[in-house]
Amino acid sequence: MKKRHLITAALPYANGPIHIGHLAGCYLPADIYTRFLKAKGEEVLFICGTDEHGVAIELKARKENTTPQAVVDKYYEVIRDSFKDFGIDFSHFSRTSRPIHHETAQAFFKKLYDNGRFKEIETAQFYDEEAKQFLADRYIVGTCPKCGHDGAYGDQCEKCGSSLSPDELINPRSALSGAAPVKRITKNWFLPMDELAEAPGFKAYAKRVEGWKTNVKGQFSSWIQQGLQPRSMTRDLDWGVPVPVAGAEGKVLYVWFDAPIGYISATREYFAEQGDPEAWKTWWQDPSSSLVHFIGKDNIVFHTIIFPMILNEHGDYNLPDQVPANEFLNLEGDKLSTSRNWAIWLHEYLLEFPGKQDELRYTLTSIAPETKDSDFTWKDYQGRVNSELVAILGNFVNRVMVLTHKYFEGLVPGNKLRPDTAQRAAVMDAIRANSEEITGFQSEMIQSLTDFRFREAQATMMNIARAGNRFLAETEPWKLYKTDAAAVAVILDHALQICAQLALACEPFLPYTSGRLLEQLQWEPDTQVRRAWWREQQPVKPLEAGHQLGQPELLFRNVEDEMMDAQRAKLVKTPEKMEMTSPAYTPLKPEITYEDFAKLDLRVGQVIAAEKVAGADKLLQLTIDLGFEQRTVVSGIAMHFSAEEIVGGKVTLLANLAPRKLRGIMSQGMILMAENKDGKLLFVAPNASADNGSTIS
Ligand code: MF3
Ligand code: ZN
Repeated sequence: MKKRHLITAALPYANGPIHIGHLAGCYLPADIYTRFLKAKGEEVLFICGTDEHGVAIELKARKENTTPQAVVDKYYEVIRDSFKDFGIDFSHFSRTSRPIHHETAQAFFKKLYDNGRFKEIETAQFYDEEAKQFLADRYIVGTCPKCGHDGAYGDQCEKCGSSLSPDELINPRSALSGAAPVKRITKNWFLPMDELAEAPGFKAYAKRVEGWKTNVKGQFSSWIQQGLQPRSMTRDLDWGVPVPVAGAEGKVLYVWFDAPIGYISATREYFAEQGDPEAWKTWWQDPSSSLVHFIGKDNIVFHTIIFPMILNEHGDYNLPDQVPANEFLNLEGDKLSTSRNWAIWLHEYLLEFPGKQDELRYTLTSIAPETKDSDFTWKDYQGRVNSELVAILGNFVNRVMVLTHKYFEGLVPGNKLRPDTAQRAAVMDAIRANSEEITGFQSEMIQSLTDFRFREAQATMMNIARAGNRFLAETEPWKLYKTDAAAVAVILDHALQICAQLALACEPFLPYTSGRLLEQLQWEPDTQVRRAWWREQQPVKPLEAGHQLGQPELLFRNVEDEMMDAQRAKLVKTPEKMEMTSPAYTPLKPEITYEDFAKLDLRVGQVIAAEKVAGADKLLQLTIDLGFEQRTVVSGIAMHFSAEEIVGGKVTLLANLAPRKLRGIMSQGMILMAENKDGKLLFVAPNASADNGSTIS
């Protein structure tokens, strides 16, 4: 194992608060790992901060009608506080808008530039002549070539999910001004990733990746195999770190160039504040320091390919030793989404569950998406709290504490016992067997933590508490007390030592609980004892005979059904909101006369049957009752409504439209629909008491 450990957790964009998905994916595992290494007595630095550049920030500013600076100032604080409130124990939490970061990122770019590592490439990019700026892909909207949705972005259609490039959009418009963008030639600096992947330093590093988690090396090798393309490290935008070379006025560094360098600038800032401004180099450049990046799966390519490549080209930097990326967490069966407000926000959770950080930490680690996506449900949360934390860990500690107070006035009884009766010999055997079992769990847990298997590690920690409960059930001190109080003394002494070990063992996962347990035990383990335990230098007998314990207190309380119902009720799916001001409204059509209008025969109809049209995702076949007759109408609304939900509803039918065959079905008329700006369709429904067949004019 290397001498010192530099641990980073992905810098969250400062454009919104933190939710459980962020915590489970990246920050919690990073925190557990850091706490584990610290407990072992390793030298560790845990670095994070907010990522304050990029289009995501600008978009949020537009949406909230404010400036990017105001957005990052607000969310920097919200995010920093959430982490603090959940015990994410960073050594330093910085932000990429600080001068030290701008300097560091610019110097990095400059060095690569001076070494001739970039290719200057001219490309034609969309430009908004009214707003006088180049348009990031997200800033171009138009009609999706795949599904016809008007309001698709230049990088993606949120309706059908297709990835797009701005050139594919039909009728592209600028989301800033609504104007049709023009193409303009612009020069940018590209990293020739295809060439740089051949550098010896990178190739040596690539070997290391082969030993990483399956999901990580999978993405890594699929990128390499597809053939890397040169990628631009600069952008024609205002918000970001200015490109520090002549001829690059009005350009900023690509956010994925500057953000990971944020880890370096945060380390520099930390040591500058410590009054040791050169010390950061040891952590980043000395080969005896290891570098571990905790991230979510959407960040894999940046942390396993682009950033290592940049570090390698700079020279004299260490490349990552591990990138234990997690998959995604879902919520109640659905993707977490900020824009649909489908999330549990950390700051809101704490308002309703004050002091229950560990309950959430425990649940999230139990279901951590380490190898595949996983799902958070309130039912599962309740189950884990009530039948694991309360029933196993809390219950064990409470029984031991209460019994020790009852029989021995809260004094640690000591473990001296002569095995002069068969019963006593059995007690001592039970203690020996139990100790061995626990030692086994201890080493399993340490191994799992070393290998980044945090779910497993936490489950093993709980096995220590389970073993404690089993030991009490076997030895039954409450029965034995009447006949052999001295034997009960050693039983409780042993059980108390388990409690003390649990206080150490649960600390990486449940730091608040660990603190409360230590408080009850009135025990402050010194670093020697802590280290010895985490390094398996047995035997550790933490509590001395005669030591006075504190008062028993419940570590956890049951979560009631009502609480869970209330939480579920709070989750409402709101439709995906457009993340920016929408383009101008559809222009009005040319004027018509009353005679033109009078040609339309509009009728009140009622849907009496509906079914999906086989082989057509978007079409429903409807039977419409007009009172005097029934019509078959094929309508393109299947993406918006299910057949079941519309039966019975009143509709407006254009009844004299020439019949038309759709998918082999003769459609006799058209149902009128309103289309919202976000593309959502709504029925233009007549009053419910209008008779079927009534004319509309
Ligand atoms: N802000 C990015 C995200 O939330 C992560 C940046 S990680 C860093 O996906 F390394 F670039 F900082
Ligand atoms: Zn589409």
